[in-house]
Amino acid sequence: MASPLLIAPSILAADFARLGEQIRQAEAAGADQIHIDVMDGRFVPNITMGPLAVEAARRVTSLPLDVHLMIVHPEDHIQPFAKAGANIISVHVETCPHLHRTVQQIREAGARPSVVLNPGTPAVAVKEILPFVDMVLVMTVNPGFGGQAFIPQMLGKISEIRAMLDALGSSADIQVDGGIDVTTAPQVVRHGANVLVAGTAIFRAPEGIVAATQALREAAQ
Ligand code: DX5
Ligand code: ZN
Repeated sequence: MASPLLIAPSILAADFARLGEQIRQAEAAGADQIHIDVMDGRFVPNITMGPLAVEAARRVTSLPLDVHLMIVHPEDHIQPFAKAGANIISVHVETCPHLHRTVQQIREAGARPSVVLNPGTPAVAVKEILPFVDMVLVMTVNPGFGGQAFIPQMLGKISEIRAMLDALGSSADIQVDGGIDVTTAPQVVRHGANVLVAGTAIFRAPEGIVAATQALREAAQ
């Protein structure tokens, strides 16, 4: 089942003093969703944004807000993020001993559930949850910071998950996050990914946000 190619600019690399304007530019360039990286200084070394940032983004765009929770105990924070306007909520399997319950909680809160795998976590860790999720996020760098180099060994994991979804007859999305640019985008798409997160390649591009978003889409097609 072919899933549509979606571009999800990550505002982690945006200029926070001009965040609203930059989100609008990404939308004008044809971005499909806005990726918001939530980090707690515990699960990952960095600290970033919370529900307030999601609520602020909600006021400047009607695009789906794709919230990537890199926090311990994400189950304690689903409601505030959903209320702030998150449309998709991604939780790391490494942080969820009761993954099925957390996924249900996300759906009950009115958002689309997604599960995330760190580079060191095998594809099989999401096998049992696949029938219950709308998206799987395969990290192509270690979470925590933007601007890191793509880990090519993750390509095989993307193919494995696409094969598992096909076997189930599921059209769930496969998102990739970390080091995605015009060179790596065609590779991940060829292996079965269809939602591309990009921070540096979009918000730090010398040619500007609009041209960079369009270039990424063209490279991936
Ligand atoms: C990393 C974050 C990413 C980050 C990607 O922990 O999850 O979303 O913004 O940044 P780039 O595209 O610069 O690798
Ligand atoms: Zn992310």
